[in-house]
Amino acid sequence: MDIEKIEKKALSELEKLDSLDEVKKFEKKYLGNGGKVSEVFKSISKAPEKKRADLGKKANSLKNRLGKGIERKQKELRESAKKEMKRSFDVTLPGKETGLGHIHPLTSVLRSLCNIFEGMGFSVVRGPDIENSWYNFDALNFPKEHPARDMQDTLFIKQEEDLPSEERLLMRTHTSPVQIRYMEKNQPPVKIVVPGRVYRNETTDASHEINFYQLEGLMVDREISVANFKAVITSLIDKFFTGDVDVRLRPSFFPFTEPSFEVDMSCTVCNQEGCSVCSQTGWIEVLGAGMVHPNVLKNSGLNPKNWQGFAFGMGIDRMAMIKYGIEDVRLFYSGDLRFLNQF
Ligand code: PHE
Repeated sequence: MDIEKIEKKALSELEKLDSLDEVKKFEKKYLGNGGKVSEVFKSISKAPEKKRADLGKKANSLKNRLGKGIERKQKELRESAKKEMKRSFDVTLPGKETGLGHIHPLTSVLRSLCNIFEGMGFSVVRGPDIENSWYNFDALNFPKEHPARDMQDTLFIKQEEDLPSEERLLMRTHTSPVQIRYMEKNQPPVKIVVPGRVYRNETTDASHEINFYQLEGLMVDREISVANFKAVITSLIDKFFTGDVDVRLRPSFFPFTEPSFEVDMSCTVCNQEGCSVCSQTGWIEVLGAGMVHPNVLKNSGLNPKNWQGFAFGMGIDRMAMIKYGIEDVRLFYSGDLRFLNQF
C-alpha cells in the first residue's frame, strides 16, 4: 500500500470540496471507523517486521496531515460563509429609498373645487360612469336625432341592438345624468356638485382627451335665478384662482337648460393682454351652464311650476390647465413623472 499516493489523492480530493457537509463525509471516508486510514493501520501488521516501525510513522503522519487538512478546509469554508452572510445581511448599509407618492394634480384640483363648493353649502355626490341612454340623453331632453347620441361621439357598451333607452348602456359623456338621478330621490332644495370622469369618442389632441373630468353643479329651489348662479360661480372662480377675476356669461345652447350660457373668465395667465391660453382674446371659456329646463324637472318627477334652478358643468382638467398654465391636457394622463413631480 502506497501511503504517499493515498495522501496525495486525499488532499487533492479535499481541495475540491466546497461545503462543510462534504468535508464531514470526507472525514468519515478517511479517518472514520473502517475508513481508509484505519485500513492502512491494519495493513501494517501484515507487513514484514522490520518495515513496521517505518510504516507506522508514515501512517501516523498521514492521519495527522489529513486531520490538519480537514481543519484548515473547515475554517476556510466557515470564513467564506461568514463573508457571504455579511454581504447579504449588512444591517449597517443604508436602505433603498422608496419614493413617496403624492396626490395627482387633477385629484387635488377636484378636491379643492369640491371644498370651495362645500363652503357654500353644496353637497358632493357621485353617479355611475357606465350610464344608460335614458339618464345620459332622453331624460336630459336630448332630441332622438341629436348628434351627441351618435357612435362618433359616444362610447357605447357592446350590446344587442334596439334596446329601450333604460337598458342601452354607454360611458357617460357628461356628469349631467346625475342631475336626474339625484332629483328622482331627493326633494328640493337641491344644492349639489358632482365630480367625476366622463368619456367621449374623440381623437386626442392638446385640448381633447378620450376621458376627462367634469364637475356638475345643480341648485334647485323655489326662487333661484341667473343672479344666484352668477354669484356662486364668481365666488368659486375668485376663490379657486385667488385673485380678482372677471366673469361674463354668453348665450349658448344645451338641450337641458333654458336659457343656456357659456361662462368666460378673464385670462389670469396674461391679465387680459392676450396670450395663447386665451387665444389672444383676454377671455377663457370655463363652463357651460343654464337654468334647468322644465322637461328635466318633469323627468325627475318635479313640477316645474313649483321649482326652478340652475345647473352647470365645468371641466376640471381645464381648470387645472388654466391654474397651472399647462398647455396639453394629455400630460395629466401620461404618467410622466417629470411632469407629475412638479406638483
Ligand atoms: N353637460 C354639459 C357638457 O358636458 C355642460 C353643462 C352642464 C351645461 C350643466 C349646462 C348645464 O358640455
